[in-house]
Amino acid sequence: MSTQAETRRITAPQLQARKGGEPIVSLTSYHAHTARLLDPYVDFILVGDSLGMVMHGLESTVPVTVEMMILHARAVMRGTRRALVVVDLPFGSYEGSPLEAFHTASRVLKETGAGAVKLEGGRHMAETVRFLVDRGVPVMGHVGMTPQAINTLGSFKARGRDEAEAALILADARAISDAGAFAIVLEAMAEPLARTITQEISAPTIGIGGSPACDGQVLVLEDMLGLGDRVPKFVKKFANLGPQIEQAVENYANEVRARTFPGPEHVYGLPKDSPLLKAGE
Ligand code: KIV
Repeated sequence: MSTQAETRRITAPQLQARKGGEPIVSLTSYHAHTARLLDPYVDFILVGDSLGMVMHGLESTVPVTVEMMILHARAVMRGTRRALVVVDLPFGSYEGSPLEAFHTASRVLKETGAGAVKLEGGRHMAETVRFLVDRGVPVMGHVGMTPQAINTLGSFKARGRDEAEAALILADARAISDAGAFAIVLEAMAEPLARTITQEISAPTIGIGGSPACDGQVLVLEDMLGLGDRVPKFVKKFANLGPQIEQAVENYANEVRARTFPGPEHVYGLPKDSPLLKAGE
């Protein structure tokens, strides 16, 4: 029976086995076009709920729905063949109970074909992570600055900068790792804390404002391409495409107004023997 795709995708267990090994590379993507560009270079693509802010202009990730996540994840799946695709469970779709989380996660995996889900939260989510993993759902955790909790956190500032908070975040990461998460995102926290967590837990850590010592790194694609207006300290702009896009659009507008675009090379002629040619002469 030959039912397998030509290229096998990277799996969650393969990434889990990379603890302490070659760094795991990841970026976000929300649609097929960028996903296709990323696919050869990254180990996993995160369809993050940051799409609410980046793609839909929302002020936070809180209003993002399961339907939005599924729509974007399907596009990313269509654009990729190789990378593991991980999809965020959005706020309000999983926190109520392990069963609610299973219903949402299984729907996401079935309707998108993605290989794993990500959810935010520490000790209070450990039971849910265990419930999902035991039922065949690979789960990536996310601790530290957890954007879905913006309304209780009050700001997007870095976490774990005092001893008490650092101890709680370490306990969060340990609980999620022990519950069976195949990897854990460490977002916006004091660097020594991200380093310690990486040393102390068995799941690979994926830093975003974490530490170079993390087992991997992830960034929001639009931020690292220089498309975001305001980016956090942890973003390095590997390109500055914003001004380039603006310049291209300005050039286009000027050429359309001056009727220099489209040029002769951009329009369709007629075959040499077309009677329409003669009629138009
Ligand atoms: O939604 C997202 O893009 C994320 C990353 C910031 C890790 O969760």
